[in-house]
Amino acid sequence: MDKIVIQGGRRLRGSVPVSGAKNAALPLLFATLLGSGVSRLQNVPELRDIRTVAKLLQIFGAEVRCDDGSMEVDTRSVLSVEAPYELVKTMRASVLSLGPLLARFGHARVSLPGGCAIGARPINLHLKGLEAMGAEIELDHGYVEARAARLKGARIYLDLPTVTGTENLMMAATLARGETVLENAACEPEIVDLAEALIKMGATIEGAGTDTIRIQGADDLVPYEHKTMPDRIEAGTFLVAGAITGGDLTVTGARERHLEALIAKLREAGAAVTETGSGLHVSAPERLSAVDIKTSYHPGFPTDMQAQFMALMCLAEGTSLIRENVFENRFMHVCELQRMGADITIDGHTAKIKGVESLCGAPVMATDLRASASLVLAGLAAENTTEVARIYHLDRGYEKIERKLVAVGASIERVAAD
Ligand code: EPZ
Repeated sequence: MDKIVIQGGRRLRGSVPVSGAKNAALPLLFATLLGSGVSRLQNVPELRDIRTVAKLLQIFGAEVRCDDGSMEVDTRSVLSVEAPYELVKTMRASVLSLGPLLARFGHARVSLPGGCAIGARPINLHLKGLEAMGAEIELDHGYVEARAARLKGARIYLDLPTVTGTENLMMAATLARGETVLENAACEPEIVDLAEALIKMGATIEGAGTDTIRIQGADDLVPYEHKTMPDRIEAGTFLVAGAITGGDLTVTGARERHLEALIAKLREAGAAVTETGSGLHVSAPERLSAVDIKTSYHPGFPTDMQAQFMALMCLAEGTSLIRENVFENRFMHVCELQRMGADITIDGHTAKIKGVESLCGAPVMATDLRASASLVLAGLAAENTTEVARIYHLDRGYEKIERKLVAVGASIERVAAD
């Protein structure tokens, strides 16, 4: 297993580009199953999870061609509706195949994703919504077996604004008979991006990006041509990289409206964040001030930025309280940061971070995607050498991160494990 080796203490300067959004591309690729023909998606990030979706689409029978950041998906030969456990267990977002397969073919057999490092990650709200649309759902040997001659529109109140739950049900509703209303829907920008592509396929959708989404079902949909939105979490990670190193960094392709909560907290801590013609610029003093954050659903502070922001607070002046409200086990990065000299104590869902003057490089281990990003950020600012092991977690969500960071002055390299 590869590792990343970082010599800390270098200020990042220059411009770093943001890739296409992983959490937009994943549902966008599954949405191709809703129509018959060749869909083209541009600005697709080169990530492990994207390769997993391509494999799944091929298992369903689609033809997938990748070329320099674009993907073509030909769904005219789709025959299978089964997403096997061997693949689903490696990527929970495979559950996003459930809605499209059921809506288009009347049947879907998708392995239950199971939990992951950050939590149990149930999909009960996905299934409850599909049942409200008339699907018969059975659990059989770890698989969800869903059938419906044709889904029917329904008014669905989501107990929690689940992101993939909203996406699954929005996709399913595009081919249902009649109108579906999703209430208490997730509002993330990735949902707006998906809705834009579905509308290009011929769907009728209003309210994406708000907590109430109305979908008028169509009899069939056609393929789309679409460009994936920029990855706001990668962008936020680079903003923190610029701040934690006291650097002067432009994150090209980043959009302020996608990251308002994070930017507000960076400014409160003393960093200067400004929108430029090409993206977002960040600069920061030698030492920032500690601020408190509470993660919540969009447009609140994103849980996917909690670990990265904690790395920043490890070196801030004062004490920061970070409360994780979305997932039940998203502090796996804490013990690794403590090994680098961070002063963090945990009380239930709240971490108390007392800023220290410096962190010391150390061998650390990634446990999940955003925890691994947090350790890279800490390594960029720490004295001496940090080695981050198990970076296959990092490769799930960050395209060529070490190359991008080297280009703005970091001393970071990927070392193939012996
Ligand atoms: C999406 O996961 C993202 N993944 C996650 O990003 C992100 O952390 C999360 O949304 C929250 O923003 C993708 O978009 C592929 P949820 P998702 O359903 O949809 C509970 C990353 O780092 N819940 O919004 O799986 C759930 O347990 C990843 O890129 C139910 O109880 O998250 C959680 O507590 C990590 N029942 C809360 O809702 C359900 O049926 C929010 O989960 C569904 C969810």
